[in-house]
Amino acid sequence: MSISIPEITLNDGLTLPVIGLGTYSLNGNAGANAITSAIDAGYRLIDTAYNYENEGTVGEAVRRSSIPREELRITSKLPGRYQAYDKAVTTIQESLYRANLDYYDLYLIHWPNPKQDKYVEAWQALLDAKKSGLIRSIGVCNFLPEHIERLEKETGTKPSINQIELHPFFNQEQQRIWHEENNITIESWSPLARASAVLRNETLGRIADYHNKTISQVILRWHYQLGAISIPKSSSPERQLENISIFDFSLTETEMSMIAELTRPDGRINNQDPATYEEF
Ligand SMILES: NC(=O)c1ccc[n+]([C@@H]2O[C@H](COP(=O)([O-])OP(=O)(O)OC[C@H]3O[C@@H](n4cnc5c(N)ncnc54)[C@H](OP(=O)(O)O)[C@@H]3O)[C@@H](O)[C@H]2O)c1
Repeated sequence: MSISIPEITLNDGLTLPVIGLGTYSLNGNAGANAITSAIDAGYRLIDTAYNYENEGTVGEAVRRSSIPREELRITSKLPGRYQAYDKAVTTIQESLYRANLDYYDLYLIHWPNPKQDKYVEAWQALLDAKKSGLIRSIGVCNFLPEHIERLEKETGTKPSINQIELHPFFNQEQQRIWHEENNITIESWSPLARASAVLRNETLGRIADYHNKTISQVILRWHYQLGAISIPKSSSPERQLENISIFDFSLTETEMSMIAELTRPDGRINNQDPATYEEF
């Protein structure tokens, strides 16, 4: 069974499905099998990163798949240690070699690392790689509005996407409003809060029972109704299918408000505040 996932259009015209597959920890042959089963189920957007050390696994799954390359959307990310312009240029090429792909559909700066003050250089490298056809769309992860404003001021171009931590315990309302006003799509990482206590939450459980759905499905439907792309990771074919079986019901405004009330100021999974946290 294959499910058709709706798409949205980014500010540069690229279309992306509203749900993709997260691939953190999907490596090697088991990882390629898991990604292949996701593509068979209907996933077309695959999220990897240089630092996950599985760009090769993702490339292998793309080659195993019968879906034409142009129907897939493959994302990778530039690590913090390679943000200097020359290193970023080489790393994008290395990312492509690792995956054995000719281009990425989307390439993101993984973290702003503002203390290093190199993310504008990195952005310039992404812009140049886009011009030369190595990347179709460019974006960022974990950027605060002030970081994005600086990119736009210094290079004249803003990202198509900002991939940020977003789940019911950390719903990023202010960020969502800012991104909507600035026409930048939000992509939610750890959309299921890594299957933590959120999957045992009573409010979500009541809503799930009412719709005859699972809590994961309610959460992923909530992301969709917020207008965010979500990228749940699952190694299991059953849960992969479960996570995209969300287009046959909708949450009411009251239910959306009930979920909004679950957010907490300290709701981040690992307290990674992009203003200070650094990842290399
Ligand atoms: N840009 C960034 O800084 C950043 C940071 C973190 C993550 N990411 C990306 O976002 C992706 C998703 O985030 P994540 O992997 O941290 O967390 P997540 O997708 O919120 O949760 C993944 C966990 O949930 C389980 N799971 C998935 N579907 C389930 C279901 N229906 N019922 C019960 N459990 C379920 C998975 O286990 P099974 O595999 O056993 O199903 C796994 O343990 C990552 O894989 C990565 O691609 C990006």
